[in-house]
Amino acid sequence: MLEEKNQVTSNKPEGSKNEAANVKTGAVGLDIGTSRIVMADGSSQRDARSQLNAFVAVPSSEMAENVLKHKNMVYERNCKNLYVYGNDSNFFASFLNVDARRPMRDGLLNAQEEMSNHIMQLIIQRLVPRGRGKEMLYFSVPGKGEGVNGKLVYHEAMLRNFLQTLGYNARAINEGQAVVFSELQEENFTGIGISFGGGMCNVSVSFMSMPMITFSIPKGGDYIDRNVTEVLGEGNATKVRIEKEESLDLSRQPKTDLERALHIYYEDVMQTLIERLRAEFRASSQLPKIDRPMPIVLAGGTAKPAGFLQKFESMLRAGGEFPIEISDVRMAKDPLTATAHGCYIAALSETK
Ligand SMILES: Nc1ncnc2c1ncn2[C@@H]1O[C@H](COP(=O)(O)OP(=O)(O)OP(=O)(O)O)[C@@H](O)[C@H]1O
Ligand SMILES: [Mg+2]
Repeated sequence: MLEEKNQVTSNKPEGSKNEAANVKTGAVGLDIGTSRIVMADGSSQRDARSQLNAFVAVPSSEMAENVLKHKNMVYERNCKNLYVYGNDSNFFASFLNVDARRPMRDGLLNAQEEMSNHIMQLIIQRLVPRGRGKEMLYFSVPGKGEGVNGKLVYHEAMLRNFLQTLGYNARAINEGQAVVFSELQEENFTGIGISFGGGMCNVSVSFMSMPMITFSIPKGGDYIDRNVTEVLGEGNATKVRIEKEESLDLSRQPKTDLERALHIYYEDVMQTLIERLRAEFRASSQLPKIDRPMPIVLAGGTAKPAGFLQKFESMLRAGGEFPIEISDVRMAKDPLTATAHGCYIAALSETK
């Protein structure tokens, strides 16, 4: 909570930093992720803007504030602290050698973080222009799963209410289904969309644009970073994350302890997801009959390393016959923006 609202000031430089001011209004897709918030409004094909869903707080001082102003960073001040949020938090966290704080955890608002709502609202306002009350906005939410069920109601309602105050007709869409909307247009939105995210992985099995099976697993990039950091006795997870993002190649034999640990946890995430997918198919008795094999499309930041697709496909096929016939496994055109793009497609389809 901000102690004294009237003392809050913000440094929001004009021009390119204020991204929300530059976008056209209309249908909007918003991917509200544990690691990043991504906005797509169709202003150009495959165009999407993103901000890290993170912040760093430092005690308020004139000197610190001057540094932020000099660096042209976006921040907010209350009487006690300065808050640097969004993409600038990365630089500032490295500069101070701390882990940035995160408004969301495992796909949902982080109950342990008192600033979560406030910071997310600031980040969303940087990306989304004010609507006029009727524009459609679809935002992504996780599917049901371990640790999600009851909390999802609160998460979804808080975001919907806030987005309505920004002037939108705001609706939630399952993240896996958004991947289907983004990538499986030519298949009549029939297939399996999977997002490998930071906080979790989300799956939707869609028939003719209808989600028939949706679920999430509470493992993703953060789980990998956290566990690799712990088993190797590393100081902070940021170092592991940077190494993972910059140089991991899952198609090569691991050579270092770090690579070995990353491979182990990547395989763990994939195996958990594949087993759950098999179990969900076995448990659902009323799936429509399909006359052709289904494609699987992969998206999300955790699916980015070289060799991910091949490893996933070989693990999927290694487990014996799959409950349904799979035509092919493919990567989304842009794994980092597929969910936002799918949310945009959903919003657009209700706008016409
Ligand atoms: N090039 C890369 N190689 C490996 N991992 C990456 C790469 N780029 C991003 N990531 C990882 O992807 C994760 C973030 O993915 P994404 O942006 O899809 O998540 P999110 O949508 O914010 O989270 P969620 O959907 O779980 O709520 C982080 O763990 C990040 O470290
Ligand atoms: Mg996501």
